Amino acid sequence: FAPKLLAGRSLLLTAGPTREAIDPVRYISNHSSGKMGFALAKAAADMGANVTLVSGPVNLPTPTGVNRVDVESTDDMLNAVMAQVDSHDIFIGCAAVADYRVADIATDKIKKSATEMQLSLVRNPDILAGVASHTPRPFTVGFAAETQDVARYAKDKLIRKKLDMIAANDVSSPELGFNADSNALKVIWEKGEQDLPATDKLTLATQLLTLIAKRIDNA
Ligand code: C5P
Repeated sequence: FAPKLLAGRSLLLTAGPTREAIDPVRYISNHSSGKMGFALAKAAADMGANVTLVSGPVNLPTPTGVNRVDVESTDDMLNAVMAQVDSHDIFIGCAAVADYRVADIATDKIKKSATEMQLSLVRNPDILAGVASHTPRPFTVGFAAETQDVARYAKDKLIRKKLDMIAANDVSSPELGFNADSNALKVIWEKGEQDLPATDKLTLATQLLTLIAKRIDNA
């Protein structure tokens, strides 16, 4: 039985991939399954929080009691998050947001003719950094998926994006992280850090949310 450490709190989080259209039938995306974000949503609801889950396209059922908003593109995700940010006191950016989108989405299906073709891409807005620079801002938590020097890159991201906390995972191991059912996290905040060793994503979600609840109470 989970203690209601988040009773009276409201959590907004992003999960899954975003999808950037190329033309009406094609898109650019990534392999994010959404499992970690959905585990966080379920664990937070079990801990008593009011939860809004902004999700990219995934194949997962909505956890009981969670308010879900489905989006496709990064722009849609940004708009959904910004529309909700003022009514939530914690934000977790768990989505694997596409870093670039197609500069000009073709209105009709692109025909194959030339042997080579080029797509022009433009940088997407950073949703997490947008939330962190919003006033008033929620307690803002980011994820960092790294394959090397995990702690150093994560600390750098904590400072650069002005986050309250960052949860870093090493995605170089195929058993952990992306798409897997298990994960391990190194959680870093301004004045401390804690390793959460490999376990299933729901257990890990509860552990991360427990750390967040403690940090908010100390703030
Ligand atoms: O910089 P990087 O993409 O590694 O940062 C990862 C963190 O930033 C994750 O929490 C992710 O959800 C968030 N992010 C975002 N919007 C982007 C890119 C990343 O919210 N455009």
